[in-house]
Amino acid sequence: MFYWMCRGRGAHSAHHRDELLDHGRMKFAERTQIEVSLERPVSPCAAKAQSTEKKVTEQNQIVQSQNGQSTPNSVSLAAHHSPFVPLCLVALAGNQVRYRAMGMDTLHVAVIGAGRMGKHHARIYAGHPQCKLAAVVDKDLDKAKAITTEFGGEALADSSKLDDTVNAATVAVPTVYHADVAIPLMERGIAVLVEKPLANDTPTARRIVEASQKAGVVLQVGHSERYNPVVRAMLRMEVTPRFIEAHRVSPFTFRSADIGVVFDMMIHDIDIVLHLVRDKVADVQAVGVNVLGPHEDVANARIRFANGTVANLTASRLALKTDRRIRVFCPTAYLTMDYQRKSGLALKLSENLDLIRMARERNFEDLSQMAGLDFGSMVKIDNLVVDDVEPLKAEIESFVQSVRTGENSGVSAEDGLAAVELAERIAASIREQGWGKQIHGFGG
Ligand SMILES: NC(=O)c1ccc[n+]([C@@H]2O[C@H](COP(=O)([O-])OP(=O)(O)OC[C@H]3O[C@@H](n4cnc5c(N)ncnc54)[C@H](O)[C@@H]3O)[C@@H](O)[C@H]2O)c1
Repeated sequence: MFYWMCRGRGAHSAHHRDELLDHGRMKFAERTQIEVSLERPVSPCAAKAQSTEKKVTEQNQIVQSQNGQSTPNSVSLAAHHSPFVPLCLVALAGNQVRYRAMGMDTLHVAVIGAGRMGKHHARIYAGHPQCKLAAVVDKDLDKAKAITTEFGGEALADSSKLDDTVNAATVAVPTVYHADVAIPLMERGIAVLVEKPLANDTPTARRIVEASQKAGVVLQVGHSERYNPVVRAMLRMEVTPRFIEAHRVSPFTFRSADIGVVFDMMIHDIDIVLHLVRDKVADVQAVGVNVLGPHEDVANARIRFANGTVANLTASRLALKTDRRIRVFCPTAYLTMDYQRKSGLALKLSENLDLIRMARERNFEDLSQMAGLDFGSMVKIDNLVVDDVEPLKAEIESFVQSVRTGENSGVSAEDGLAAVELAERIAASIREQGWGKQIHGFGG
């Protein structure tokens, strides 16, 4: 695989970028500096301008001399004549040749949507050593200004007005607008971190994923619970769940009313469950009820996977207090975690063999003979070792790394799509049950 760079703002650059994208996967992009990985050689005719073709030949010679290959790859370098285009060869390993422009160490980031989540994203980018908060965009300009006053950057009312120097963006507008905002950004070569859920239905989520593939830019999805330190601690244990139980309840915030509780809250647990089980969903049975609006506010889903694992998920945005827990039952361990308090316990079979042996050997026929014993004090329990990390900060760190390296190390576009697909199946099952119809006169 080869990495090439196409620089420049003019029509030639745009044209060459498109040509290159037909042949490979864009790795790092902005309007002025575009690095492209090529999976197969590009013919020099991709670069139409004569002067560029000359440069192509020169670059081919460089590559040939570096990698010893007889079939040259070509490069589109529309702005090669510009005095401010210093290219340097930064890495050479085997037949991998990588060009990177100097001065690319700082990402110019925009946040679209200056609501509750957008403000957190802006705060974290503003304090990130490798990022510059270039702009905050909200259709309500005063909301954007309130954030730029605190954290810097330009306040805008329309993301199409973003400066060409912007190379990454968070999309934190209401879910129903994710596609409208994210797709044009990706078409401009801007990497995006789209808040969860990726979209409010599968076709729209698929359109967003396809747009990222076509543009060759990083698309990460903001399933921030994946970065919760307690989840990371659980993932480090590499457990094999057989049964998962999750509860996620909170009072209504009157935000995210454009979607139901399955897409709004249960989606976090859906993503965690899919990530843990990594198997096909065989069956979904769900019930739910809408009380305040047209979408379900309370839901319960039982998901059965092809390998037999079952997940039972409950979500409510009509609770009087916030509580977010997950319990994971495995053949060799039981884990219980509190997402909110970021604490968890693990009971491992290997550490409790003495108790099991005692129960089985002495009282196998009649366990009630052990009734005088304190079960809790006999069981060995470990506290999960949890890092002190803000989940959103860890999520943004992984996005920044993905944009800088081109490797999607965070929650991928496909993960975001899979979560939406399952959420849609759950919502469809709820509609089949028709619970909401019981709330007559309240949009049920
Ligand atoms: N990761 C999490 O834990 C988490 C938590 C809450 C919300 N979210 C997600 O974050 C997103 C935003 O949620 P929120 O609670 O911050 O919402 P919010 O209502 O507080 O903010 C949304 C902002 O977007 C602006 N907006 C709407 N359309 C726009 C457009 N086309 N261009 C520019 N600005 C526009 C609105 O004016 C508003 O200021 C949603 O997708 C939601 O599901 C994620």
